[in-house]
Amino acid sequence: MNKIKVHIEKGSSSSYEIHIGYQIMDRMALILANQGWAHRYFLLTDSRVSALHGERVLAILRGMGLTVEEIVFPGGEEQKSIHTCTELAERMMERGADRTSALIALGGGVVGDLTAFLASIYMRGIPHIQVPTTILAQVDSSIGGKTGVDLPSAKNLLGTFTQPKAVFIDLAFLETLSPREFINGLAEIVKYGIIEDPEILEELREGEEALRRRDPAFLAGIIAKACRIKKAIVESDETDKGLRRILNFGHTVGHAIEAESGFAVSHGEAVAMGMCAAALLSERRQYLSPEDREKIFAAIGQAGLPVRIPSSLDPEGILRGLKRDKKKEGDQIRFILLKRPGQPFVNGGIPLSLVRETIEELRA
Ligand code: GLY
Repeated sequence: MNKIKVHIEKGSSSSYEIHIGYQIMDRMALILANQGWAHRYFLLTDSRVSALHGERVLAILRGMGLTVEEIVFPGGEEQKSIHTCTELAERMMERGADRTSALIALGGGVVGDLTAFLASIYMRGIPHIQVPTTILAQVDSSIGGKTGVDLPSAKNLLGTFTQPKAVFIDLAFLETLSPREFINGLAEIVKYGIIEDPEILEELREGEEALRRRDPAFLAGIIAKACRIKKAIVESDETDKGLRRILNFGHTVGHAIEAESGFAVSHGEAVAMGMCAAALLSERRQYLSPEDREKIFAAIGQAGLPVRIPSSLDPEGILRGLKRDKKKEGDQIRFILLKRPGQPFVNGGIPLSLVRETIEELRA
């Protein structure tokens, strides 16, 4: 099992470990039993993940003598709401959850963000542990302490920065992902390749066959690399005031596409389209060479992700979504642009007319 320490010792945040390996739920149970983070654990998960893994994970945790109850809710982005959050809090109250309880998030990004948000506000804050089951959650949302729920008009508008006690990345969970879910998560790995370490793009290209087989050794390597990049960025800027902003590469337009599609376009697909938009904007502003822009499009397409925005989506709807982005400052929409792969920068001054042209150009 590979361990990566996230060093954060500021305010109420403290350091924690990311554990990566294949079939590590028994190791997790041992660590939880030894750490004594809580007297009682609530395993929060969605109905799909519960059906696939809930019983087994509960049995492993209980086998180690831990007191654990499962709370299951329906899956899907529409569950990432304050309404679901208060319902879950009521269910915890009914079962007597108190400040000596902790939450375990077993699932993808929605389960992780929602559970972490609930943990950060329940009785003014109880501990939580992340057990991400999708690539997307394993390399991005489970690490770094961003918690949140959506408002009907925009994603992640309500949230806190609350670090987990630990993150357990079990590669065995990736075996049950649908091909679409699997590819969805690759978008965030490609993102790390574009913004930080272009070698990752090479590795993804060369490892195409291993990826297709979901080879645990290959996945362990590339996921650990992605986690190390994320942890280093979070350590230098926990609350998203500086360097961490580069992690939003592709997410400004991406979030607006996701929302405009009513979440029919998945997060990874939307981020892929958003990364294409950011690369094209970078080229139009003459920061990025046409060759590098092409390389970026090729890497995204090669991962099986889209490089076009569906023509069924209304560009004006996407632009309205951009104006609601929480990273907007005054009338300026902040974009992460590129000088070359591995060299991103924050640009606050892109006129909406250029964004409109870029979206039009990318429409299929
Ligand atoms: N997912 C972006 C971040 O954690 O900052």
